[in-house]
Amino acid sequence: MRKIILVCLAILTLILSASPAMAAKPEKAIIIYFDYSENIDTEGMAIDAISQASIAESERFRDRGNVLVMVDLLKERTGAEVYALHVTEPYAPKFEDMVDGAQTDKNENRQFSFAEPLPELEDVDTVYFLSPIWWYTMPQPVRSFFQQTDLSGKQLAYFSINRGSNNGNILNELAEYQPNTEIIAQYSLNAMIDNESAEKEFTDYLDTQNWLSK
Ligand SMILES: Cc1cc2nc3c(=O)[nH]c(=O)nc-3n(C[C@H](O)[C@H](O)[C@H](O)COP(=O)(O)O)c2cc1C
Repeated sequence: MRKIILVCLAILTLILSASPAMAAKPEKAIIIYFDYSENIDTEGMAIDAISQASIAESERFRDRGNVLVMVDLLKERTGAEVYALHVTEPYAPKFEDMVDGAQTDKNENRQFSFAEPLPELEDVDTVYFLSPIWWYTMPQPVRSFFQQTDLSGKQLAYFSINRGSNNGNILNELAEYQPNTEIIAQYSLNAMIDNESAEKEFTDYLDTQNWLSK
């Protein structure tokens, strides 16, 4: 009898280890971000003007926007694939030329469309989302994304850069557009610090987070 039980156990172990359907499904994550400097109308602009376009004259100690610094760090830490949102109708390169329009877009809930197909999210468990804060909350292209996409059953972490509003109204809006999504983390970084300081601050933050397995 003991022998039969041992044989049965051995067979069960073999079946379990050979069956991919019964093995634990690996977690899949994706990093999705919206960055202003990648969503400007560059027609007729010189290369150096493009790279500086979203950064005002007085702020040029930063090589690039801190959203991109955070994206790189998260990619390094999670190994997740990265998807950048690019609107089909990009913004004027100068802050002062686009800022009012960005508020009208928000007030009118303009629906943006995107240059590339939205990422396939069916198998994704966790979405890490990054953007600047515009008008006290998410930029309108990001709002369009959350209104056009279903993240039900997934986990979401939202990271932003701001000039004083922190994450503003973002969590309330997410609760409205994605009521069945679990928010696992939210964080906002000062947009005005240099890239090195941004890297250090975000690293220090990530080091305290237990949702980050790596
Ligand atoms: C249209 C617009 C609206 C903004 N509104 C806010 C705001 O309400 N609160 C805030 O803290 N920062 C606001 N900002 C600053 C951004 O969050 C961001 O930090 C800044 O534009 C730096 O971005 P950059 O690194 O891409 O140049 C706004 C920026 C833009 C372009």
